[in-house]
Amino acid sequence: MTNSGLFITIEGTEGVGKSTQCRMLCDALSKDSGRTVLATREPGGTELGEAIRGLLLDPGLPAMHGTAELLLVFAARAEHLERTIKPALAAGGIVVCDRFTDATFAYQGGGRGLDATLISTLETLVQGQLRPDLTLVLDLDLTLAARRIHDRGDLDRFEQERGAFFERVRAAYLARAAREPERMKLVDANADPETVHRRLLDQLEPLLR
Ligand code: TMP
Repeated sequence: MTNSGLFITIEGTEGVGKSTQCRMLCDALSKDSGRTVLATREPGGTELGEAIRGLLLDPGLPAMHGTAELLLVFAARAEHLERTIKPALAAGGIVVCDRFTDATFAYQGGGRGLDATLISTLETLVQGQLRPDLTLVLDLDLTLAARRIHDRGDLDRFEQERGAFFERVRAAYLARAAREPERMKLVDANADPETVHRRLLDQLEPLLR
């Protein structure tokens, strides 16, 4: 839990409409919550974090060892937490982060098959006890999600993975959401953006009261 701020993360496989929903949510919260809203993303959110993001997503680099990928993700996160997220929360703001550590459990754990205990150890090292107050997991049938990704054109290093990779990622998200129903809320993303947006606001409402 955070001190006075509110830490919200948005998760899901590629093509579920996450970026659009993050934008709509931040706009709504900035207008209606009366609090400062910080929109940020992972990997990224700082100058160094964005540089690390470039390495992680670059399809032109040779294949990356799974442990190297994991450490890069957490290196970006350490910087992001200390320089951006914690100060914003300490000032009482609402932080909306497009992906966070649940993505590491889903992609590096589920997708790449890295040991979840190792990921938990790094989570504690980098975050201490800090966890999101609420995590909204956008869920969409993978065939529909894949269609949206391919319509976008240029694919990054993760988007180029095969269907089985995304099945493991999605399964990992669903399993985590089932294990932590208080913090993680599954949201059906198979609807128009306005409807999905209202579903997210419904999940957030109890926290904003
Ligand atoms: P996105 O901004 O389109 O969601 O792209 C970020 C990519 O980075 C996405 O494919 C998932 C991946 N990723 C991980 O593999 N592990 C992580 O911990 C995070 C935050 C992202």
